[in-house]
Amino acid sequence: PDFASVRLRFPGAQGTPYFDTAARGLVSIQSSDAAKSLLSDRLNGTADKPAMFDTVERVRDKFARLIKGQSDEVALTKNVSEGLNIVANAIDWKAGDNVVLCPELEHPSNLYPWFHLQREVGIEVKLVSSTDGRMPVAAMQAAIDDRTRVVTCSFVTFAPGLRSALQDLATDCAARDVLLLVDAAQGIGVLDLDMSSLSVGAMSVSTQKGLMALYGMGFLYVRKSWIERLTPRFLSRFSIDLGVGAHEAASGGEDYRLHSSARRFEIGNHNFIGATTVEPALDLLLECGIGNVETHVIDLNARLVRGLAELGWPVFAPEEGVHRAHMVAIGGTLGQDHDRTSDDAIQRLYDALQKASIRLTIRRGLIRLSSHVYNDLSDVERVLDVASSVRP
Ligand SMILES: Cc1ncc(COP(=O)(O)O)c(C=O)c1O
Repeated sequence: PDFASVRLRFPGAQGTPYFDTAARGLVSIQSSDAAKSLLSDRLNGTADKPAMFDTVERVRDKFARLIKGQSDEVALTKNVSEGLNIVANAIDWKAGDNVVLCPELEHPSNLYPWFHLQREVGIEVKLVSSTDGRMPVAAMQAAIDDRTRVVTCSFVTFAPGLRSALQDLATDCAARDVLLLVDAAQGIGVLDLDMSSLSVGAMSVSTQKGLMALYGMGFLYVRKSWIERLTPRFLSRFSIDLGVGAHEAASGGEDYRLHSSARRFEIGNHNFIGATTVEPALDLLLECGIGNVETHVIDLNARLVRGLAELGWPVFAPEEGVHRAHMVAIGGTLGQDHDRTSDDAIQRLYDALQKASIRLTIRRGLIRLSSHVYNDLSDVERVLDVASSVRP
């Protein structure tokens, strides 16, 4: 792919470097134009509902293609948290059943649903520790017992931003009939995650980060073999199989039948502007090939890690390997602070990068730089230039 011309589609990537995809991705001119055109239809009273539904179905199909799943395995949702809650509450829990997770590394969005079920239903939340910032997949496998119904973890953690080694965990969960639920807020749209070769049970994604679109839109992937084993807690007409061609306002009776597809998890009208905005981003990613996008960001990050190390800055987990994702975290230890750090040198570097208008964040005491398709080597060099002006 011609990443130089891709970069031109993103005004936010011009000028100073944008390294904040892990907070929110840049939106392209094409996505912005598509959203404006939908709003203009509403402004002028010319909105076309069938066309909006067509967009939703195309987007469903493109989400599926991006992760090499099937469209019937994709439900459109509001965000990652909603998808995680839909799945967590669709299981016929018995008191004493358990879920396995690593509390140090999960985003709060993937902790509260489980603590809530612990409080309300009496499930057990089995906590597995991480000592090195990496998802402790082997220990999580070891924690599975005959009451384990779910294992959940992030695909890439929001901090320190490392990719979880999911292969063995997914295979083991599938073999033991345990649902592996992945929080993929981070990574989808930037890294290649292939549902045809990785037996993840369910995965929740939102579109504001790697998918370069809006807040309030996401999707939930549920593997075919799990869909009919999960009973949604909330229902709307879209969850019900009314037969082909039925109008959306057609009334069903009490002998309703849930969709056998992931549509059973959808609640009411869709975020049409969210779907409209993400479609050009999906087209771009499918056109580039997600494997090529991953290679592009991993190469940029390798250069960034090398340069930072040469300047004497500590990079979290700097070695090459499968844990590398689209993020580089500067700092030695995982803390608790966001947007600031108690480490003086790291704070000084952050202040200098901010002063140079480089967009990035501090998460858990680490400076987090996250790359995407619109970043290039000049961005990396600019960061290294600023980093060379501060004493580690
Ligand atoms: C790993 C992870 N999980 C969940 C979330 C929350 O996502 P959402 O607001 O789409 O529910 C985030 C957002 O920052 C995240 O980084």
